[in-house]
Amino acid sequence: MTKIDTTVSIAGLSLKTPVMTASGTCGYGLELTPYFDLSRLGALVVKGISLEPRPGNPPPRIVETSGGMLNAIGLENIGMEAFIAETLPRLREYETVVIVNILGESQEEYGTLVDEMSRHEGVDGFEVNVSCPNVRKGGIAFGSDPEMLEKLVRFLRERTEKPLIIKLSPNVTDIVDMAKRAEAGGADGLTLINTIRGMSIDSESRRPHLATVVGGLSGPAIKPVALRMVWEVAQQVKIPVVGVGGILSGEDAVEFLIAGATAVQVGTAHFRNPAACIEVMEGMERYLERHAIQDVRDLIGSIQLDPSPVA
Ligand SMILES: Cc1cc2nc3c(=O)[nH]c(=O)nc-3n(C[C@H](O)[C@H](O)[C@H](O)COP(=O)(O)O)c2cc1C
Repeated sequence: MTKIDTTVSIAGLSLKTPVMTASGTCGYGLELTPYFDLSRLGALVVKGISLEPRPGNPPPRIVETSGGMLNAIGLENIGMEAFIAETLPRLREYETVVIVNILGESQEEYGTLVDEMSRHEGVDGFEVNVSCPNVRKGGIAFGSDPEMLEKLVRFLRERTEKPLIIKLSPNVTDIVDMAKRAEAGGADGLTLINTIRGMSIDSESRRPHLATVVGGLSGPAIKPVALRMVWEVAQQVKIPVVGVGGILSGEDAVEFLIAGATAVQVGTAHFRNPAACIEVMEGMERYLERHAIQDVRDLIGSIQLDPSPVA
C-alpha cells in the first residue's frame, strides 16, 4: 500500500499530521519529552503566555467531573521574557511547528506580545486566547463581544505577518457570528472550542470544589458541543478550523475532520495519558488505512447528510 498522506495546511503552516496539543494541557511541551518525540506532532501549542508572569488562581483549581474535568488554573505562566529566553530555544530542537498561545488583559498587551514574539524565528504562529477579561473595558471577555473581537483581531493583523489563529470561547450565544467577526478582522484560522463555564459542589460540606467557584469544563463531556460548533462554523467561514474538545481516540479526531475541521487538538486526555496525542494520531492513521483513504484531506468536511436534514 502506498504511504498515506497525512499532511494538512493551516494558516500557511504545513503540518505533517493534523494532530496538535491543546494549550495549557501539556505545559510548554518540554514536559512531554520523556513520553514521545515532539517531532512527531503536527504542531505544539504551548500554554498561554502573558506579558508578565502570572501565578494563577489559588487551589483547589482542578476537580474531576463525570466525563471530564473543571479547571480554574487562572492562566498561570512564566511570562513572555522567560518563555523567549528559556523555553523557545529548547523547543526549536524539535522538528515541529510551534504555535504560541497568547493572552492579554488589554488590546495593547496582546499587541506587545505579538510585536515582541513575531521577531523570533522559533515562533511559527500565534493562537490567540480571547477568553480573557478586558480590564480596560469593565472585564468583558474579548471573546464574548463580537465588536471587541473583530477590533482586536484587526489590531493584531496589522502587527504581524505570522499566522494568527483565534481561539474562540463557546460561552457565547452565536458562535458563527464570533467566527465571522474573527475572519473579517483578518484571522488566518480558528480554534474551537475553549472550555465551557461550569461548577461543581460538594453536597456534604455544601462548598464549591473550586476556590473560584466557577471553572472551565473540558474532556469527553464537551465533545458533542465542540463538534456541533466546528460543524456550524466550518460551513460559514473560508479560513481553516482547528477542532478541540474531548478528543480521546483516533475516531474522535476523525469525527472533527468529517465535521469540517482541518486539524485537531488533544487536551484533557493528556491528564490520563501523557502520550494521548500520539495514540490519537496512530488511531487516526489506522482509520485511514481501514477505509483505504490515501489522503487525510479527503476526510475534511466529508459529513454525509440526508438531502434535507431535520434541524
Ligand atoms: C488545565 C487546563 C488548562 C488550560 N489552559 C489553557 C490556556 O492556557 N489557553 C487556552 O487557550 N486554553 C487552555 N485550555 C483549554 C484547552 O486548550 C482546550 O481548549 C479545552 O480543554 C478543550 O479540549 P479538551 O476537552 O481536549 O481538553 C486549558 C484546559 C485545561 C484542562
